[in-house]
Amino acid sequence: MAIKRFGVSLESDLLDELDEMVNQKRFTNRSQAIRFLIKKNLVEEKWDNDMEVTGAIVINYDHHIAELHAKVNRLQHEYHCLILSGQHIHIDDHSCIEVIAVKGNAGKIIKLSNKFKALKGIKHGELVMSGSN
Ligand code: NI
Repeated sequence: MAIKRFGVSLESDLLDELDEMVNQKRFTNRSQAIRFLIKKNLVEEKWDNDMEVTGAIVINYDHHIAELHAKVNRLQHEYHCLILSGQHIHIDDHSCIEVIAVKGNAGKIIKLSNKFKALKGIKHGELVMSGSN
């Protein structure tokens, strides 16, 4: 894709903060930082406006808890239309992490994520919100 240049005017304090962010987040330069911020904002708007998005639901649970693994599996079958793939990782004797890649309507994905988090025995759950392109 063609790269275009444009000038940006900023208050010096804000420019200092941008440079601090470039350093802290290890961006290569200001352009990369600004690109990241624009994309982050566009992705947030998609989630806020119930548009088509992608993401990942990450859950952490103890597979010894009765029926929990089966319930996690059942939910994935029930919502296969929103789920691209799932990966189960055995962390130790008890703990499992499940990473579920999702794509679809933002509102439906948030509801699905809440269903996973609400399963009795889930230790931790988080929805990673990303864009669809
Ligand atoms: Ni496991």
